[in-house]
Amino acid sequence: MPDCCSPGSPRYEGVFDDRFAHDIAERYRRRGLTAPEHRIVDHLAGIGLADRSVLEIGGGVGEIQLELLSRGASLATNLELSGAYEAEARALLVERGVTDRADRLVGLDLASDGDRIAAADFVVLHRVVCCYPDSERLLEAAAAHARRAVVFSHPPRTWFTRLSVALSNAWMRMRGREYRGYVHSPRAMYGALERAGFGIHVLRTGAKWWVVAAARA
Ligand SMILES: C[S@@+](CC[C@H](N)C(=O)[O-])C[C@H]1O[C@@H](n2cnc3c(N)ncnc32)[C@H](O)[C@@H]1O
Repeated sequence: MPDCCSPGSPRYEGVFDDRFAHDIAERYRRRGLTAPEHRIVDHLAGIGLADRSVLEIGGGVGEIQLELLSRGASLATNLELSGAYEAEARALLVERGVTDRADRLVGLDLASDGDRIAAADFVVLHRVVCCYPDSERLLEAAAAHARRAVVFSHPPRTWFTRLSVALSNAWMRMRGREYRGYVHSPRAMYGALERAGFGIHVLRTGAKWWVVAAARA
């Protein structure tokens, strides 16, 4: 598990901190994957994971990667802008006995540092586009790094999600935090992947997280 690179980004570490990482790791130990996470894993397992590599952007403690590795993926690489997950992620990798098939990179942004990051068969972004200002650029970079498919989740663009994110951003501003959330246009995000030659298939809808698969056409 060779780790690298730079320190994490204060914008993300202020919010996605040790406590956030600990809570996610504990929830995963107690209850396993959430419903959208299951949908992502089942979809990729349905395509076939044997000898396939996975690059997860913003994968946090790496629970999706652990399941993909246990179901046959050959290598999982996690790219994070917050370094706060690393201790919890390492503990989970040791518990599962898969450290030799996992790589974790901190402080690289696929959208701007893409040439430093190897391509993979599958690229996953769960609960990430809503934390990043330019979702189209990030998804274009994901497409450029995916030999077979990109699977990502996003919140639906409803009055409720837009109000929630606006209130959360106001709270961040009041507390002097740099972090902002976004409810990007699904049409614009799907368009970025279609322009890169991918066909879109919505796997799951719901009030909180939609899961979308994009496969090379
Ligand atoms: C809401 S958290 C989700 C973490 C994890 N996927 C989960 O569901 O528990 C969003 C994460 O995306 C990361 N992130 C946002 N933009 C990123 C980017 N361009 N590259 C890597 N990580 C990114 C943030 O650091 C943050 O940890």
